[in-house]
Amino acid sequence: MSAAVVLLAAGSGTRVGAGVNKVLLPVAGAPVLVHALRTALAVDGVDHLVVVVRPGDEAEVADAVGPLLLDHEGREVRVTVGGATRHASERAALRALEAEVDDGRVDVVALHDAARPLAAPALYDAVLAAAREHGGAVPAYPLTGLVRRHGGPVPGTGRGTRTVAVQTPQAFRAGVLLAAHRWAEETGFTGTDTASCVAAWAARPEHGGPEHGGAEVGIVAVPSDATNLKVTWPGDVRVAEHLIRP
Ligand code: CTP
Ligand code: MG
Repeated sequence: MSAAVVLLAAGSGTRVGAGVNKVLLPVAGAPVLVHALRTALAVDGVDHLVVVVRPGDEAEVADAVGPLLLDHEGREVRVTVGGATRHASERAALRALEAEVDDGRVDVVALHDAARPLAAPALYDAVLAAAREHGGAVPAYPLTGLVRRHGGPVPGTGRGTRTVAVQTPQAFRAGVLLAAHRWAEETGFTGTDTASCVAAWAARPEHGGPEHGGAEVGIVAVPSDATNLKVTWPGDVRVAEHLIRP
């Protein structure tokens, strides 16, 4: 049994507005995606990696990640083309892993935004272990300060919020993840993140309970913090630069 890691890099980075896909922007001497892949290759027990790229980015991604692939101790790294949404890109990655999942070689899958160059191997270890135990795991940390929808009503005065920021890598038992995505494809469901797809699938009465692998799917939170930032806005590139450079 081994784990697989999916790096989602098939977006376009419109909010960063750099003219190139933000995952290809250099930060601390290497493209954002290269930092993410370097870390994923350092996680124990990961034999399969899938990098999901935007159509048209293939050559630039190959140039960027090529040097890393010269020495990856027999781990298989595949590059596949993603879809129009993050959800569709996840589906493309799972198609590339379907044989290994169906025959049991891969028992858990971690899906990570390639736009997060700072996720540590220990965070992967934590979500993979929690996914094996509970079914699914997401990194999360409590948001502090006032959180409100711009233009909407000010929330009540209650101190302490249960609102958490949810990040990636998100990990799931492979059979559950594939079943959730196959169900989503049949029903037309589109998830914002991987956990939302698995949760929507698991919430269906016909998918809960012992008939699915003997246990209900629990998606647990693994502690993380704001340093696992996602490059989303131009300022995030500068913050990532400071955090990565020693
Ligand atoms: N992603 C993907 N396929 C898509 C859309 C997004 O693989 N069709 C990936 C991005 O490359 C990124 C991650 O999902 O690593 C998180 O998405 P987001 O931060 O929204 O990235 P972009 O969609 O590229 O950025 P923007 O929304 O600003 O255009
Ligand atoms: Mg996006």
